[in-house]
Amino acid sequence: MSQTLKLGQPSNMFQDEYGHLINGEWVSSASGEVIDMINPATGEHLSKIQSGNAADVQRAVAAAKAAFPAWSKSSASQRQEILFEIASRLKARINDYAMMETLDNGKPIRESMFFDMPTAIGQFETFAGAAYTLQGETHAYEDALGIVHREPIGVCAQIIPWNVPMIMMACKIAPALAAGCTVVLKPAETVCLSLMEFFKEMNDIIPAGVVNVITGYGPNIGEALVTHPDVRKVAFTGSRPTAQKIIQYASQNIIPQTMELGGKSANIVCEDADLDAAVEGAAMSTILNKGEVCLAGSRLFLHDKIHDEFLDKLKGVLSGLRQGDPTDMATHIGPQASSMQYEKVQKYLDIGKNEGASVVVGGSKATGGILDNGYFIQPTIFADVANDMTIARDEIFGPVTSAIRWKDEGDMLEQANNTVYGLAGGVWTRDISRAHRIAQSLETGTVWINRYYNLKPGMPLGGYKQSGFGREFGHEVLNHYTLTKSVVVNLQEGKIGAFDQ
Ligand code: NAI
Ligand code: MG
Repeated sequence: MSQTLKLGQPSNMFQDEYGHLINGEWVSSASGEVIDMINPATGEHLSKIQSGNAADVQRAVAAAKAAFPAWSKSSASQRQEILFEIASRLKARINDYAMMETLDNGKPIRESMFFDMPTAIGQFETFAGAAYTLQGETHAYEDALGIVHREPIGVCAQIIPWNVPMIMMACKIAPALAAGCTVVLKPAETVCLSLMEFFKEMNDIIPAGVVNVITGYGPNIGEALVTHPDVRKVAFTGSRPTAQKIIQYASQNIIPQTMELGGKSANIVCEDADLDAAVEGAAMSTILNKGEVCLAGSRLFLHDKIHDEFLDKLKGVLSGLRQGDPTDMATHIGPQASSMQYEKVQKYLDIGKNEGASVVVGGSKATGGILDNGYFIQPTIFADVANDMTIARDEIFGPVTSAIRWKDEGDMLEQANNTVYGLAGGVWTRDISRAHRIAQSLETGTVWINRYYNLKPGMPLGGYKQSGFGREFGHEVLNHYTLTKSVVVNLQEGKIGAFDQ
């Protein structure tokens, strides 16, 4: 593993500036403005991206539209070859991509290397195979033959966030490419360095105009992109308020949407659970990507009988973690991805204390040495939390978990479901019927039994309620990038005879 690039050092693995990628060309924004990419561990400048606007959107959509006829008719083997080639180039430069993700986002290099990059690569491999599975159906009738064709939907707008940029880019473009769609991708303005470098590297294999990338602030791009009459679908991952805007934009031309939004998932520990495994799971859920994960089990439901012992153990694990330089393979927890996120999390730490929750561990920003230069927050567990407190309702998106005590299973389930969200959840018990009973009662898109964040390729991922709609990661996502066309062939000779009398 490359450990050569240390915190604060300049790098030659990425460029000083990236343009928009339109029709295979790197171009400046019509605005003439750029946005700085900042290392959140040091505050240092990394690179620059274009600050896009509606004029850039016009050019990008035109390129995607022009590329669609040929790409939509490309063979499955051509699409499969490109997707596999992308995966193998990512593997060849995995150290660089992992390091860029870490420098730009602040996530520990051990996560970029062993979680983000393999997950992103897995998307290209999964959908490389899927290029061949876009079959239609046939129906045999006594007097007719029904054929259902599956066709690519057209130009897709894809808008993604900053927390796991490579995974988000991959889970958006891989199925779209497999399906034969063309894309205008809008990455997050705060973190997108790795994926800009990715598109630079892949520019010789992705045909011009098939994927176009416009960077910049959401409001300057979003409306022009999603309301463009040539855009036929929007896929979005991000916050609820932004989703509400995008759904409004999408209503203008009645285009379909898939929405993967936030969460406030319940991680439920029963009294018969393997406590050490559950403690590790709760610690992971708190600190993975410094809590900037939509799937985080940020409401920890602890059975009364194990409540105190569990929190003692969890405190032990979290206080022993190494927080600091995210480029160091030994580091467990890095800084929040941006000043905005840093301030947001601190605000919730104050809210939790004011609401009367008690701090088991953490509770403030992390200071001392290198921690003073970046956006570091201590891993924090609040106890004595009631499910209606703000810290149990809002998605904090930081290393903060709220523990809620429970005794009665029915009452606990009612509380677990008493949230506007429903993205993921965990259950820890050795009782198999209880595990399934709880899993079936949860209003949520994913439930992990006895291991949190147990993401498996091919398993659909998506929300119930205000966590969104549509499923990604599994084969089902191909339905969102295709439309069916029903063709009915009459098998009877001659006219019906409807007007013979
Ligand atoms: P956001 O939803 O504003 O940003 C996500 C993407 O949407 C970015 O590319 C952004 O530029 C774009 N965007 C923003 N306004 C837009 C508009 N009017 N039209 C089109 N695109 C637009 O999320 P933000 O502000 O970065 O983070 C705020 C909170 O959202 C976080 O603290 C977290 O709670 C939640 N969030 C959830 C994510 C998830 O994975 N579900 C990912 C990122 C944030
Ligand atoms: Mg925003």
